[in-house]
Amino acid sequence: MTEIEAIKARHSVRSYKRGMIEPEKVIQLRAKIAELNAEGGLRMQFIEDAGNTYNKLLNRAMGLGSAPSVIACVGKDAADLETRIGYYGEKLVLFAQSLGLNTCWTGTFNHKTIPAEVAPDEKLVIAIAIGYGKDQGKARKSKTAEQIVEAAGERPDWFDKGVELALLAPTAINQQKFAIKLTDGENVEFVDKGGPYSKIDIGIVKCHFEIGSGRKF
Ligand SMILES: Cc1cc2nc3c(=O)[nH]c(=O)nc-3n(C[C@H](O)[C@H](O)[C@H](O)COP(=O)(O)O)c2cc1C
Repeated sequence: MTEIEAIKARHSVRSYKRGMIEPEKVIQLRAKIAELNAEGGLRMQFIEDAGNTYNKLLNRAMGLGSAPSVIACVGKDAADLETRIGYYGEKLVLFAQSLGLNTCWTGTFNHKTIPAEVAPDEKLVIAIAIGYGKDQGKARKSKTAEQIVEAAGERPDWFDKGVELALLAPTAINQQKFAIKLTDGENVEFVDKGGPYSKIDIGIVKCHFEIGSGRKF
């Protein structure tokens, strides 16, 4: 499965089957995490037994308490930490999708009970539930390209392809509070329009746009 196929297949999944992820897949996930952590200067952690990460009433009501495992997104505190977590965390989400697994980014989880390692100079930004979903989730409402694009004149094909996949990016409460700006027909800017976890959203959007456009920004 290519990254483009993974983007098209992915939906947030909040109800998981019983049983742990097979050891061969855990090895692959851990190797991918090590690679992404090195690239992004992060310390994302695969926690095989999610334990009481999702014991809050809200999580249980959503079904997230069934997630067998969790990825803790941790990194040294920095101005761009959230956006980097969004970017590299989504790379991991897409890799998990290609292994046949399902995921859900979660801002709401129990920070006190998640079995993550967080050093004094680090921040636990967010968690990602992971496992085999009871189903594959479903498509949700999306803004249109016209609602999020800021571009004067003609738009190159690569830009439109990037926008198409950016609109499939998961965002907190499906807010999609971002704009994608084309300047000089060549440069792209990802504009954060605010809202909860919007800095993480921007990193996720950038990840999807790059995959769709085939360019790096
Ligand atoms: C930063 C972030 C935080 C999120 N937090 C939660 C959460 O706490 N609980 C939850 O059920 N879903 C959460 N989600 C999942 C979003 O609700 C979901 O991505 C959005 O509705 C779009 O649906 P999709 O992922 O199926 O495309 C979060 C997503 C992101 C990107």
